[in-house]
Amino acid sequence: MKTTLEDLTAKIEEIKTQLSQESNINSEELRIKYLGKKGQFNELSKLIKEIDDKKTAGQLLNDLKKHIETSIADELMNRSASSADRQQWIDLTAPGIRPSVGHMHPISQAIEEVASIFEKIGFTRVRYPEVDWDWYAFESLNMPPDHPARDEWETFFVDMPDTTQPIEYDANNPRKRHPSLVGGKIVLTPHTSNGQVREMERLNSTPPIRMVNIARCYRRQQDVTHTQMFHQFEGLVVDKGINIQHLKGTLDYFAQEFYGPGTKSRIRPFHFQFTEPSFEVDFSCHVCGGTGEKDGDKCRFCKSGWHEVGGAGMVHPNVLKAGGIDPNEYTGFAFGWGVERTYTLKEGLNIDDIRLLYSGDLRFLKQF
Ligand code: DAH
Repeated sequence: MKTTLEDLTAKIEEIKTQLSQESNINSEELRIKYLGKKGQFNELSKLIKEIDDKKTAGQLLNDLKKHIETSIADELMNRSASSADRQQWIDLTAPGIRPSVGHMHPISQAIEEVASIFEKIGFTRVRYPEVDWDWYAFESLNMPPDHPARDEWETFFVDMPDTTQPIEYDANNPRKRHPSLVGGKIVLTPHTSNGQVREMERLNSTPPIRMVNIARCYRRQQDVTHTQMFHQFEGLVVDKGINIQHLKGTLDYFAQEFYGPGTKSRIRPFHFQFTEPSFEVDFSCHVCGGTGEKDGDKCRFCKSGWHEVGGAGMVHPNVLKAGGIDPNEYTGFAFGWGVERTYTLKEGLNIDDIRLLYSGDLRFLKQF
């Protein structure tokens, strides 16, 4: 004969009554008897295949399970001091269970470290919006709308109407533009370079400027070396007489502080719209000491002795103008790198899938 919903309800009531009368067994035994693999609940659940209205039957069973769980928990609370449970678990000499303690995410640790390295040589840590006007992320950086160089940045645009008229930017008269007039499109910042002109504005276009802007960035790309959300740090120095030597000295200083003594930096000619000249920056590999060879073989970590980390250059005159600074009077250098990449290159951290950092997997995160 098939089991009906009525049969099931009756059986559920039976189990509840039986449970309410249990007094001689401890909570663990209760759990096994009712919720264990061969416990009453599982045995009853098997009937579901015979019942037509599976949805209602499922709900009834779920309610029963909750009822059993709370009853066992209540039971545990209500037991008197002489109960089997209490006697079992109060042993003042037993070693305690250490509560698990969290720690900062490895990327937050790296951000703190990067910030403190630059603060030691007089940089100020700043933060600028990660949702910003297109103007700060591109136009002020010498990339007018539709400029092909923008393609590099795989940008997310925020889907909202333009809030003001796009500004007419007059490179010869940067003062004409006031920050409150900024309008046009809004982007999720694809790099921290949006902080450059913002910092010039914050300081009323008055150098010296020495900032390090560390923030989240977003790009439409995801694979073993890219996550859609990542972090960059951006350096900007503007003053009278700043030249490439200052840039190179800063890079060498950072390399040694972050990767250890003996690490060297190398700059190679490249192109960015917002710097002239522009460079790509490499650091020597600490696994092979920059030789590209390890134990008579090609170094498997770097293959060439060097790791590319990011971009740098001398600030383009148009960028200084966009920030209201006279390029005839002042010069500057800038650099920008990914925190994740810079960090994972650290000695001993051969992380081959950068997405792991944001997987929330404690087995991974606990190692740092
Ligand atoms: N913003 C660039 C990027 O995301 C990196 C960069 C290059 C930053 C050169 C700079 C710079 O400040 O001068 O690829």
